Parts: sequence; structure tokens; C-alpha cells
Amino acid sequence: MAHYVDLHSHLLPGLDDGADSLATCLSMVRALAEMGFSDLCATPHQFAGRFEPPLDQVRLTFDQVSREIATVLPKVRLLLGAENYWDDVLASRLRQGEPPCYDGGKAFLFEISPVVMPPRLEAALFDIRVTGRLPVLAHPERYLAVQRNPAVAESLGRQAALLVDLAALSGTGDRAEVKTARRLVEEGMAHAAASDMHDPEDGPSIASGLAWIEKRLGANAVRQLLNENPRRILVGQLP
Ligand SMILES: [Fe+2]
Repeated sequence: MAHYVDLHSHLLPGLDDGADSLATCLSMVRALAEMGFSDLCATPHQFAGRFEPPLDQVRLTFDQVSREIATVLPKVRLLLGAENYWDDVLASRLRQGEPPCYDGGKAFLFEISPVVMPPRLEAALFDIRVTGRLPVLAHPERYLAVQRNPAVAESLGRQAALLVDLAALSGTGDRAEVKTARRLVEEGMAHAAASDMHDPEDGPSIASGLAWIEKRLGANAVRQLLNENPRRILVGQLP
């Protein structure tokens, strides 16, 4: 096994727009394990007004799925995180010093509006960094401001880890997202890549994104984006 670390997935059933049952969840976990992932971070949405699974319910589901995986796929380790939308709920959790982080650590995943960049985002991220936390930005290729000007990604990437979606690298889907994701990886602006898997049907494009990195940039890049850098991110370091 290649021991890849997946920092972004919607594997936990019944919490958001990801897996709809335990069986679906397990087939997604199995597909990721077959691609070489050994450490899977489940990151259900926390998005005010759209997906608001209570954190204690998230924890219960995580515990239940972890027990199941320990039985059927004992080589896979499941970790808990969240995909936090940049909204008032996250702001308040950050003020209280308890954003839902990866594995109870210092790093947390977040996403922003695809069309409107939050005002003063970079300054806010800097303030968060000063408190010792590491923000991790999901799918930078999806944001209009980054698509129009990759320099935006470069400056955001000084305060936050940038995590591209593997499916965007595969070449299928939205043209602007594909072009931007590939450019971020080719120019070394992306810190890591992740599955963002919602459904078993996402499997082939995730695998093909992995294959694209290997073909275009070689095995070292794969190791860096899927193994070394995600492990550093999990311990709160910006690679
Ligand atoms: Fe996601």
C-alpha cells in the first residue's frame, strides 16, 4: 500500500451530501484503500443553513464507522475532521478556540464561496495562524478569484495549505477548474491533493487524477502531495 493520506472526503453516512448509508460508506473506503490510501479523514460539511450535523452526532457516526472499518478493513485508519464553510458559525468557533480540527489537532479544513472572496481573508488567515492553527483551503481551483489570477492562490498559500481535488486534475468536469487545478500543481502552489469523495461514482475520476500527477510530474510529486505534505498538515505544519 502507498500509504496516502486523504485530507478531504464525505464518507460518513447520513450527515451531509456524501455517503447515504453504511454500505455506501464502506464501498467508498474500499475504493480509496485500493488506490493506496491508508489514512482517511472524514470531513463532513459544517455549513450554516445547508449542512449542520451536530458535532456530537458526527462523533457518534465516526465512532460507529471506525469500529466497522477496524473489522472489515483493518489496515485503514479513519480520522475525523470537518469541511467548515467560512461563515459565522466557524467565526464563532474560532473565537472560542474550538474549530472542528483534524483529529483534535491544530489544522482545520475550510471552504469559501466560489464567487465572492471573503473580504480581508488573507489578514484573517494570518490572525488564525498567529494562534497556532493551520487553515487548510479546500479546492482552491473552484474559486473564481483564483481562476482569474493564480497570484491570489500564491498569497493565500502563504497563510493556508492549499488542497486541490484529485478529480479536477483528472481533466473531467469544469474546464476552468481543471486548468486551475493543474496549474496549481504544476507550479508548486498546491500543498496537497485529496479525494473530496461524495459517492462511489467519484472513484474513477479520483484514480485518474492520481494517475495524472504521476504521469505529468512523477512518483516524487505523488508522494509529496498525497503522503508527506498531508502528514505535515495533520500535525499543523504548512509544507
Ligand atoms: Fe468537500
